[in-house]
Parts: sequence; structure tokens; C-alpha cells
Amino acid sequence: MVDLRGQYQTIQADINRRLQQIIESGAFVGGAAVSEFAHQLANYLSVAHVIPCANGTDALQIALMAAGLQAGDEVITVSFTFVATTEVIALLGLKPVFVDIDPHTYTLDTKQIEAAITPRTKCIIPVHLYGQCADMQPIMEIARRHNLYVIEDNAQAIGADYYAPDGTAQKAGTIGHIGCTSFYPSKNLGCYGDGGALFTNDSTIADNLRVIANHGQREKYTSELVGVNSR
Ligand SMILES: Cc1ncc(COP(=O)(O)O)c(C=O)c1O
Repeated sequence: MVDLRGQYQTIQADINRRLQQIIESGAFVGGAAVSEFAHQLANYLSVAHVIPCANGTDALQIALMAAGLQAGDEVITVSFTFVATTEVIALLGLKPVFVDIDPHTYTLDTKQIEAAITPRTKCIIPVHLYGQCADMQPIMEIARRHNLYVIEDNAQAIGADYYAPDGTAQKAGTIGHIGCTSFYPSKNLGCYGDGGALFTNDSTIADNLRVIANHGQREKYTSELVGVNSR
């Protein structure tokens, strides 16, 4: 569906020049190019922090780890998504609770969320699909009332604008506590290989996400908590 070879051919000279620079720099994990990309993406999204990681699935897992949930806690999401959204919930010993989608938008039907909330509900993961943003205003309102964490799965809608009822626009993935995205090659913003990122406006959450994504380390070889290898 996505013509990756055709895309490459149109910007071949730029890509080759940048790849050459990276190979010559010797910085193959993180490094200046990744920091510059994170900075530019933060500006584009108008979000305070962009934390690069290994892929979109890791982004979702790291976000859930940062939310400090206990095994058995419930996470409301949709089944109409890529498997990764639910996979990480199960992997962390949490319980996915599915809410149906709105047949017009294919995203979480916000009218059905409250009926799914129990005393064990801790988090909502709306999934923005096909460049279409879930209706974030009621989701954030429900989350505020029930003290729930909101993690946006933005793997399929980077760059989409969400318009609140008062007409203000925000980029998809920057409205909840944490936004997650994927740079899988065929995504709206794809890379050459696997890649992902987390977004947040909260400095404390950002710090936590960075530590979790780097083996629980703030300083090299000093692990403060159980993290993952998703540098
Ligand atoms: C909605 C959704 N969530 C999560 C992911 C996982 O991203 P990745 O393949 O980079 O791990 C994808 C992409 O495949 C996706 O489409």
C-alpha cells in the first residue's frame, strides 16, 4: 500500500547524505540525530517532551509501566486496533476491558466508557485510527472525574488535529497524560527500521519515561528501577 521505494527515490540524495553522516559519526543508538529529531517533533506537535524509543509497542509498554499500575488493574481500551495495544496490557499482568467503537469514527465510543469503569479501573487507552482522532474531550473529562490515567495510542494518527467543542485544536497524542507513536516504515511518519516515541507535557512523567526506556538507568550502570531496553 505504501510505496517505500518510490518515497525513497524522491528524496534519495538527502537520505543518503544523512545516512552517511550518521555512519561517519559512529552514533548508532540515540546520538545527535535522534535528539534533533525529538526536538523537531516536539516543536511540530507543540508538546513539551518527546522521548524516542525502539518501537510503538515499547512506547505503550513504557507508558503503562510509568503509570504505576498493580497486577489485576483494569485498562479500558478497544479491540479494534493492532494487537500491540492489548498485548502490552496483558504482558504487564493488567486486565484489558474492551469498549466498543463508534461506527462512524472507528474509535472508542465515549458514551460507553462509564459503564465499563469499576473500582479496579486505572487507565484508558484510546486508539486514534486511520488518521482519525478519538473524541478526547469527553475522555479527559471522564478520566478527571474517575482519577484515571489516559495513554493515547497514536501509532496511526501522528499529525492529526483534534478539535475540542470550543474550536481549539491540539495534535493527537498530546492531550492525554502520555501519547505513544510508532515509526514503523508504513506508518504516517515511518523510519527505516523499527522506531517509536512517547509524548508528554509533564516533566516528572517525562523523566520517568526516559529512565524506564533506558534499563531503569538515569546514570550509566546505576539501575533505579526495572526498565526495558528501548533506547
Ligand atoms: C494502533 C497501533 N498501535 C501500536 C502499534 C505498534 O507499533 P510498532 O509496530 O512500532 O511496535 C501499531 C503499529 O503497528 C498500531 O497500528
